[in-house]
Amino acid sequence: MSYDVFDDTVALVTGGSAGIGRSTALAFAEQGADVIVADVDDEQGEQTIAEVRDRGADGAYIRTDVASIEEVDTLFETIDSDWSGIDYAFNNAGIEGEQAPTGECSLDNWRRVLDTNLDGVFHCLKREIEMMTERDDGAIVNMSSVSGLSGFPGLPAYVASKHGVVGLTKAAALEYAESGIRINAVCPGIVDTDMIGRVTGGDPDAERQYVSMEPVGCMGDPGEIADAVLWLCSDKASFVQGEALAVDGGFMAR
Ligand SMILES: NC(=O)c1ccc[n+]([C@@H]2O[C@H](COP(=O)([O-])OP(=O)(O)OC[C@H]3O[C@@H](n4cnc5c(N)ncnc54)[C@H](O)[C@@H]3O)[C@@H](O)[C@H]2O)c1
Repeated sequence: MSYDVFDDTVALVTGGSAGIGRSTALAFAEQGADVIVADVDDEQGEQTIAEVRDRGADGAYIRTDVASIEEVDTLFETIDSDWSGIDYAFNNAGIEGEQAPTGECSLDNWRRVLDTNLDGVFHCLKREIEMMTERDDGAIVNMSSVSGLSGFPGLPAYVASKHGVVGLTKAAALEYAESGIRINAVCPGIVDTDMIGRVTGGDPDAERQYVSMEPVGCMGDPGEIADAVLWLCSDKASFVQGEALAVDGGFMAR
């Protein structure tokens, strides 16, 4: 799909060094938006920005641990001074954490996953809303998961964090509905990225088991999630507010 709304705009993508975030950064660039990537993987982040520039857009990689409010504050100070704001934001950075049932989930794992996946979204969302309310315009997409819509055994902190993102998205969407800022979430099924590689440990049996959860019979491609994010940001989704959109090959239809 091609859009004419992204020219001369700026999009922020957290976790844009790899996987779904990188695909979305490149999709924004292909549609004419400049792209800021905030991530902790410097080498891959600079690589994403090189690919953004290959597509004729401008961009910057700004090292930011989204779990740190201080680092997020610095990110937004830089955006304010160097870019005069943002039009779109994709709060995508996330980690899966360790796999263990709830009774064996360490406090350290719980804290680390919640700090990154939920606090990280909150830190960015708060600053994005401040920035966008100055213009009364903008669109924000938060990264949740099908694990934000249903239970999934063995990743309790991850599931709790992703449910939290859906709740936060709905609350903020209602609060800012009249201000011209649209806030939605995307809830992917199983998508072929490094994260799934880490979860399956590269074990073909584990990989087959994950694929078998997908009614369409295959994992999603990161680009298929990027397409949904761009649609949610575009004027084509002008009446979509507070939605937790499953992009999941039918996972949630079971
Ligand atoms: N792959 C899937 O099947 C799937 C499904 C549903 C939701 N998601 C979500 O999509 C998002 C992206 O996942 P992915 O599959 O592309 O994984 P990925 O591991 O390929 O990419 C995650 C990116 O986030 C960055 N990141 C991690 N912690 C960070 C932090 N504290 N601050 C800034 N950046 C940080 C990583 O460096 C990496 O670049 C995650 O939030 C994940 O939970 C993934």
